Amino acid sequence: MSGSITPVTRFERVGAHSHIRGLGLDEKLKALPVADGMVGQISAREAAGIIVQMIKKGKMAGRAVLLAGPPGTGKTAIAMGIARELGKDVPFITLHASEIYSSELKKTEVLMRAVRKAIGVRLREKRKVYEGELTHFELKTAKHPYNPYQEVAESARITLATSSESRSFTVSGSLASNMLAQGIRVGDVLQIDAETGRVIRLGRSENAAERYEIADYTEKPIPRPKGPVEKEKEFIYLVTLHDLDMMESRGRGGFFTIIFGGVAGGEIDSETRRRVDEYVKERIEEGTAEIIPGVLFIDDVSMLDIEAFSFLSTVLESELSPIIVFATNRGITKVRGADIEAPHGMPLDLLDRLLIINTEMYSRDEVREILKIRAREEGVPLSDDALEYLVDVGTSKSLRYAVQLLTPAYEKARVEGKDKVSKDDVEYVVSLFSDVARSIEYVKRYEEYMMR
Ligand SMILES: Nc1ncnc2c1ncn2[C@@H]1O[C@H](COP(=O)(O)OP(=O)(O)OP(=O)(O)O)[C@@H](O)[C@H]1O
Ligand SMILES: [Mg+2]
Repeated sequence: MSGSITPVTRFERVGAHSHIRGLGLDEKLKALPVADGMVGQISAREAAGIIVQMIKKGKMAGRAVLLAGPPGTGKTAIAMGIARELGKDVPFITLHASEIYSSELKKTEVLMRAVRKAIGVRLREKRKVYEGELTHFELKTAKHPYNPYQEVAESARITLATSSESRSFTVSGSLASNMLAQGIRVGDVLQIDAETGRVIRLGRSENAAERYEIADYTEKPIPRPKGPVEKEKEFIYLVTLHDLDMMESRGRGGFFTIIFGGVAGGEIDSETRRRVDEYVKERIEEGTAEIIPGVLFIDDVSMLDIEAFSFLSTVLESELSPIIVFATNRGITKVRGADIEAPHGMPLDLLDRLLIINTEMYSRDEVREILKIRAREEGVPLSDDALEYLVDVGTSKSLRYAVQLLTPAYEKARVEGKDKVSKDDVEYVVSLFSDVARSIEYVKRYEEYMMR
């Protein structure tokens, strides 16, 4: 065990895109026709692959990407593919543009949070620890203060041994209970944080395993640590600027609080963020921190308004900026909050900074392939004619709609005692559920009767 802990707070919108495992590219960044759950959309995927390389090499600073194309052509899927390719150490944050119109927080605060969640900080921290094989454990119990029938750990006497020394300590009741709760026993190799008393079980000692339990261990034993019991160890923590903001705003020093959890909502003022930036900069100068710019993916970007756009332009110019990836299915449309029309509803100064990737409509074969993958992912067995009918729906209405129908159709089939979806199951759910175009038409037709 390297001693590194990664308490990264990050969420991803999966569901409809859970089958996407990457961009499906070979070593030369050429797209394979079907790979990593991805089908077709060759040039967009290859373009996305180049973006991933640029991000990994730090050559994307302050830039933005726009995925533009008709509905259901895989823009969100490709963004998810980028996230997978970047790996888990690079933050990837998804924000649906409409989320900025939250009732709780100001628009710019929602954006600022997302921006700071998308910037990772790798902190290296030296900590004093006690490390060794537990060779002696003697628990001292006392009666529970409120319940005389219950015994609680009051303290314990423990001995830790390395290959060169052995030291005994008296530890608190809570540390002792913590050890008991983890099932720690004599012969385990432990690491105890000197300041917080946090106990980590590193493994079973080879020593103990050889002596007592040759026939009976399932984990591979590890050697006794070398050197003194008390030592300084370097730990690496991956946090985001947002994590640090939250801790700073709660006034609790040290980033250990987040490892123990318990950070929640609340407005963060700019002074707090300034102090965090200051702290991070100092640590970078000291050589104990490193910035990992991540990706902020803003889906359905034409939902943003002029105020949000100008905020994002400023972010892109600042020294601490994530890489922003936008997606849109709109052509020329009004910029919200302004009286102008613009391509994709985005202000021109922002458009100027974009690398634009277009997605194309799928062929029938590609739609079929995607539906097959989704059906497998959702565990929906399809008969051939059901699949063909869904392909019709996917090409004539939308791919997203066809994908959405898979599970309802399967429910229908199951109610009838079948274990495979047939064409009439699909026809039936098509009659029950509308695609967006049909729904809009319906609402229009009956507008005067609908709620206003
Ligand atoms: N090339 C692809 N390979 C595999 N799955 C895909 C591909 N393109 C789209 N999909 C899947 O098809 C469905 C619709 O695609 P997606 O939601 O990504 O489209 P979109 O371009 O973001 O549409 P919209 O403009 O409506 O947001 C999703 O379940 C998605 O994961
Ligand atoms: Mg989308």
